[in-house]
Amino acid sequence: MTTQALIVLNWKMNVPKERIPSLARCIAKNSSSVPDRARIIVCPSHDLITSSADALKKSCARVFLGAQNCAQTLWGAHTGEVSPRSLKRLGCSHVIIGHSERRMSGLESNDSIREKIELLLGASDLPAPILCIGEQSRIKSDTSAADHILVKQLEAALGGVAKKKLKVDRLVIAYEPAWAISTSALGPMDVPLHVWKMRHDQILRMIQKLFSRAIGHCRVPILYGGNVNEKNVRGFLEAPSSGVLVGGASQQVDSLSRLFRAL
Ligand code: PGA
Repeated sequence: MTTQALIVLNWKMNVPKERIPSLARCIAKNSSSVPDRARIIVCPSHDLITSSADALKKSCARVFLGAQNCAQTLWGAHTGEVSPRSLKRLGCSHVIIGHSERRMSGLESNDSIREKIELLLGASDLPAPILCIGEQSRIKSDTSAADHILVKQLEAALGGVAKKKLKVDRLVIAYEPAWAISTSALGPMDVPLHVWKMRHDQILRMIQKLFSRAIGHCRVPILYGGNVNEKNVRGFLEAPSSGVLVGGASQQVDSLSRLFRAL
């Protein structure tokens, strides 16, 4: 694992309010087994951010809070949206942007993702973005098709950031092949480690190219997500990985305890 590894727990809409205290206790109990430098970020659904913050505080869990999405503006006539400023006030240090479940259901476009990323990187007092990218269907690792998709997604989300010379020191990228998400029925190593390491390096090179010298010594963390569980988490945390984004395995006390024990 590289220094300052991030372990992002995406609870999606799968965690009922009643389960939060036991998950918070599980995180508090097991966080001592997490290597010192690792940072755990819990991302509940919007309606449960406050209850989660209270439960995590009560159980003395050593964690940060995140959200699963935000609006692309700070205020205005946007019925049903949540401003990133409100999320910050609720205690969120991070927010997931462009998750494939949102991209694929038409809730997110390249434009909305770009606007959100620029908004969040443009003001240091807003939550830091965790930008999700990844191919939708299974692509052979030796073709350039996945490369092409990742380049397009990165350019669409970050092209404006590069042009406007916004700082990227708070940016986090999560590579999540959409076909591997929520696939616990498949094998535990459905994305072989060498493919993850290859994608990691490709993304790193793409970012360096996009920002050329402007990025300087700043190292953008690149996480892996998609069916991370107790059987594969150590592999996905191996260098050069910067961490993991965990969905299903973080939503039940049993599977979360097993995940922590495997770290
Ligand atoms: P999963 O979800 O771990 O259940 O595959 C990951 C994600 O959607 O971020």
